[in-house]
Amino acid sequence: MNIITPREIRYNVNAGEALLELIESLGASRILIVSDPVIARHHVFEEVVKLVDSRGLSYEVFKDVEPEPSLETVERVAEEARVLEADLFVAIGGGSSIDAAKAGLVLYEKPSMNIEELSPLETIGIGRRSKIVAIPSTSGTGSDASFGVVITKIVSGKKRKIALGSYELVPYATILDPRLPATMPRDLTRNTALDALSHAVEAYVAVMATPYTDSLSEKVVETIFRLLPRVLENPTDLEARARIHLAATMAGIAFTNAGLGVAHAIAHAVGPRLKLHHGLAVSLALPYVVEYNFVNSEEAKEKYTELSRHLSLWTNTRNNLPQQILRFYEKIGHPRRIRDLPSPPPQSEWKNLVEEISQEAMEDSELAFNPAPVGPEEIKSILNKMY
Ligand SMILES: [Fe+2]
Repeated sequence: MNIITPREIRYNVNAGEALLELIESLGASRILIVSDPVIARHHVFEEVVKLVDSRGLSYEVFKDVEPEPSLETVERVAEEARVLEADLFVAIGGGSSIDAAKAGLVLYEKPSMNIEELSPLETIGIGRRSKIVAIPSTSGTGSDASFGVVITKIVSGKKRKIALGSYELVPYATILDPRLPATMPRDLTRNTALDALSHAVEAYVAVMATPYTDSLSEKVVETIFRLLPRVLENPTDLEARARIHLAATMAGIAFTNAGLGVAHAIAHAVGPRLKLHHGLAVSLALPYVVEYNFVNSEEAKEKYTELSRHLSLWTNTRNNLPQQILRFYEKIGHPRRIRDLPSPPPQSEWKNLVEEISQEAMEDSELAFNPAPVGPEEIKSILNKMY
């Protein structure tokens, strides 16, 4: 089995200094910096740009990436790169900026390509003119180390999420400077960390899991259980921030190589309908999907039992994994069910939504990686437990 990772992971470093070293080792001289309007005001962003500027390198800053970037934004990134003749894309920001850079690189190098045809099963020869260095500002999506790209497209007046993947889009390098995630608001810290936790827990039993990805998953789960409460208590604890930042990257490598599962398939359908952050949506599905896999896959049951035994050393409980996750949510003040949200949909509305969501989840490509098969009835039953 092929295992694909970034060439370099620069952990717990000063982003600007690490970037200059990479620029030098790559011999890059025309740099496109891709970011969003919020991160573009961050002191670390300003530091990075100042350093690049001080070396007399040609560079351009594109800071218009919106959450869940649109195809138009991606086209603008590619156009900017064409004008500059970029030989390096530097994405500074959350998953959206990194995804916009990845998709922008595709259209820069292959202008006639239909981006929706991007697939992990095909080699298209991207990355010959330019490489991607990611400097993530959140600790969750793992996009800085993953093959995934999520963009949105307007289809008959409605926003539609398109999730794509290509192993050629795993960034060349990722730079992990803990000062960036240290300024995330509390809710974002929690939701993004639980996204990373979900990546690790799903990848752990996914059909392509290997001992390599398992070792990453185990360490990610342990790190988040141990250190997320510490970071929530003290947001500027840079030591704990750095470890969670690395855990999110490790989880990105785990799911790129092992796959995900039903919790992500459900989250892709639930998130936009209830206007929930992806990390919140997937975290609400996770305990109930783990419970389902526990009962329906002998192998998942064995692995999850081992994992919870390991976790019990840190949590002092003898519960199984779904209960351990729910207890952990309670400990960090995270909702355990949809009805615990500040404004949940009424039960009558939820009934109709369940139909729609299960239909859409059934079409999600992540289902293929789940250890136990699922049908629409099983998804509906998971959704009702989630509620
Ligand atoms: Fe996710």
